[in-house]
Amino acid sequence: MSHPDHEIDSNPSANPHFESVLSQALASPSRRMVLRGGLGLAGLAVLPGCATLMGASGGQMASSLGFSSLDKSLLDDVVLPPGYRYTVLHATGDSLDSKLPAYSNTGAEADDWSRRIGDHHDALDIYFIDAQGRYTETDTGRAVLVVNHESSADAHLMHPKGQTSNGVSGKKFTQFGDWDLGARPELEVLKEINHHGVSVVEVVRGPQGWTMKSDSPLNRRITAQTPARIAGPRAHINEIRAQMVTRWETSGSMARGTLNNCGHGKTPWGTYLACEENWAFYFQMAGGGAALAPKETAARRRYGVASAPPAAGQTRAISQGWHTVSATDDRFARWNLAAVGANAERDFRNEANTFGYNVEIDPLSSSSTPVKRVSMGRMAHEGAVCSLPKAGQPLAFYMGCDARNEYIYKFVSTAVWDPKDIGGGIAVGDKYLNEGKLYAARFDADGRGQWIELNIKDPRIANYAAFKFENQGEIYTQTRIAADAVGATKMDRPEWAAVNPKNGEVYVTLTNNSAANRTPGRVDAANPRAYMDVDGKKGAGNPNGHIIRFREDGDTATASAFRWDIFLFGAEEDAGDANLSGLSAKNSFSSPDGLWFSPTTGICWIQTDDGAMTDETHCMMLAALPGQVGDGAKVTAKNRMLVNGVEQTGTQETFVGATLGDARLRRFLIGPKGSEITGVTEAPGGRALFVNIQHPGEESKSVTDLQSQWPGNKGYGRPGRPRSATIVITRTDGGVIGV
Ligand code: FEO
Ligand code: CA
Ligand code: CA
Repeated sequence: MSHPDHEIDSNPSANPHFESVLSQALASPSRRMVLRGGLGLAGLAVLPGCATLMGASGGQMASSLGFSSLDKSLLDDVVLPPGYRYTVLHATGDSLDSKLPAYSNTGAEADDWSRRIGDHHDALDIYFIDAQGRYTETDTGRAVLVVNHESSADAHLMHPKGQTSNGVSGKKFTQFGDWDLGARPELEVLKEINHHGVSVVEVVRGPQGWTMKSDSPLNRRITAQTPARIAGPRAHINEIRAQMVTRWETSGSMARGTLNNCGHGKTPWGTYLACEENWAFYFQMAGGGAALAPKETAARRRYGVASAPPAAGQTRAISQGWHTVSATDDRFARWNLAAVGANAERDFRNEANTFGYNVEIDPLSSSSTPVKRVSMGRMAHEGAVCSLPKAGQPLAFYMGCDARNEYIYKFVSTAVWDPKDIGGGIAVGDKYLNEGKLYAARFDADGRGQWIELNIKDPRIANYAAFKFENQGEIYTQTRIAADAVGATKMDRPEWAAVNPKNGEVYVTLTNNSAANRTPGRVDAANPRAYMDVDGKKGAGNPNGHIIRFREDGDTATASAFRWDIFLFGAEEDAGDANLSGLSAKNSFSSPDGLWFSPTTGICWIQTDDGAMTDETHCMMLAALPGQVGDGAKVTAKNRMLVNGVEQTGTQETFVGATLGDARLRRFLIGPKGSEITGVTEAPGGRALFVNIQHPGEESKSVTDLQSQWPGNKGYGRPGRPRSATIVITRTDGGVIGV
C-alpha cells in the first residue's frame, strides 16, 4: 500500500541497490562534483545496468529511478512515494492581494475573480528573476509562476448553491455547456468569465519552501476579458484582421481575453505561450439575424462553433450561456455569434475567430499586452513546445490539436535563434512567432512521416472543394480545414508535446479515442489499436491512449520528414493483446495527457487525465526513462472489439519502443478523487517539482454532495468544497526528485 504521504518521512536511500547510491550522489551538489571530478562519468558507465549521461543542458541524466513505484490509489489525497512530501502553493480562489478577503470556499465572493487565482489549474511554468529584475534560467530563489486556468467543465463550486440555468440554481450540467435556455445572473457570469485565463504570481523560496508572495507588483490575472493584440505574418495580417472585426474593435487588430488555456509552451527567450483549447464551446447563436454564408457555416462546423440558432422547441444549448445576461452590454453580447447587426462592425459574428491561438505572455512585465500568435494556426491548441534551440538555426514549435481525429502540427520560424534574445520579452516573440511556416504531420505505415506545409500555393488547398480558401490568411484561421485538404493523419486526440533534452526527439501524448472512431477496421500504423476495456466497464476504441515520438531527419527544426515509433501504449495490466508495452500492476496507466522532460534528470514525466481506469485508481503521474526512436520492434496489434453488438477482429502492424519494464517506468504520484494531474516543471537542479491538481471532485453531484474535499481535508484553506491547486513536491532529504 502506498503512503498517503506528505507527513511520512522515509528515505529511499535505505534501498541497497546501486540506483539509490546514484540517487544520493545526484542529490548532493558536493557529491555530484565528486562524481564528476573523482570517480568520473566513465567510472559510472561501466557499472552494470547503470550509465550517467550528459544532457543538452549540461546536467547529468539518470538511467535509473530512485523511488519505489506506487500501488493504485483511490484515496482523497495526493499520494507520493516514501521520502517525498508536498505542500500546496496556491489553490482556486486564493487572493493575489492582501486587501482581498480570504477565499470563503462557499461561493460568497463578489466579482473579484480578476484578483484571485483562477479555476482548473492546467499547464504551468516558472520564470526566475535575477537581482536586476530580469529573466534568468538560474535558480535565484525568486520567480514568477504562470498557471493556465482551463475551466472547461463546471463552475458551480464558486456560487453559493451552484450555477443557475433557466432560473434554477444548483443545477448540475454536463461538460461544455448543455444549458437550458434562459437568462443567467450577471454576477455568476462575471465570476465565470474572470476565473478563466492565466495567473502570474511571484513565488519565493523561504524556510517553508516555495510560497506565493501576496501584493507583488508582478502578480497578475489575465482573464477572458483582458485585451490582447492580434499578430501574424506581415504579408497576411490584413487578411487576418478582416476576420477579426467586431463591434468592440472594428480594425480587427485587438481581441479580448483568452479561454480554456490548457497546455502551454515556454519560449527560449523566456515568455509563456498559453494555448487555447476548447474555446469553441462558449458561443451561441441567438436573437435571429442574417443567415450565415455556406462557407461560414462550414468553417464553424469544422471547429464545433455554434453555426445555427437552437432549433424550434430545443430547450438546451451548448455554450456557457454567458450571452444570455444582456444583448447590449458587450461583456455578454460578445458570446453571441448571430449576425444581428447591419455588418460585422455592429455585432460579434466574428468573435469566435479571435480564439483558438497560442497567446504569448511576458511573465516579468505585468503591464505588457498578451499577443495572439495567429501564424501558429487556429485549433484546439494543447501545447506549443520548442525544439532544442541551436544558435543560427530556425526554431520549431510542436503543437497538438486536441479533439478526436485531429492533427499534429509544427511552426518553424523564419528567424534563426540568437541566444542574445533571451530576456527580450514580447518584442522577441514578434521576431520569431510571426514569420514562419506552418506544417501538419502525416504518419506513414513504414515508420516514416512527412511535414506538409499549409500553403495556399498547394493545389490541394487552393482547389479544395469543401472550403474555398481565398488567401493564406484564411489558412491561419481555418487551419484544420487546410490540414484536411493535404491529407494529414487523424490522430487519437493529440495532447501535450515534449522534447527530450538528450536527443531532441519529440514526444506527443495521444490521450484516447472513442469506439465511434476506432474499430478493428479503422486503425492505422500510428493509431493502431481498437479494443475494449478489459472488464467491460469503461469504454472501447482506444480507451487508454498512447504516446508517439519522432525524430526529425538530420535533427533539424526545418526537416520535412521524420522517423517515428510509439513510445508507450496505455493499458490495464491485464488487458492482454492491448497491453503492447508490457505494463504491470505497478505502472499501468490510461489516457496520457501532460508530458515534460526534466532537463536535470532526463526523466520523462507523464500525467494522466483519465476516465477509463478510474474504477481502479485515480489519475497519476509516472516517471519514465526513455531510450530513443527505433529502440524497439515492429509489432502486430491484435484488435478485438464489439461493434454494434458484433465482434470484429483485425490486425495492424506498428512500431513500438523498447519495453521499459518496472525499472524504467514507475508511478510517482496519484491524485485525489475526481482529479486530473496536469502541468509540471521544476526549479533548476530538480529539487522542487511544481505540479497541478485539476478539478478534484469533478464528479460532485452538487455543492453539498461532494466527491472530494481536497485540499481542505489536508489542512489547506477552509474545508469543504474541493479546489484545484498547484503543489510543490520535495524530497524530505532535499535531494533531486525521481532519482
Ligand atoms: Fe485540456 Fe486536451 O486537455
Ligand atoms: Ca490537457
Ligand atoms: Ca476497467
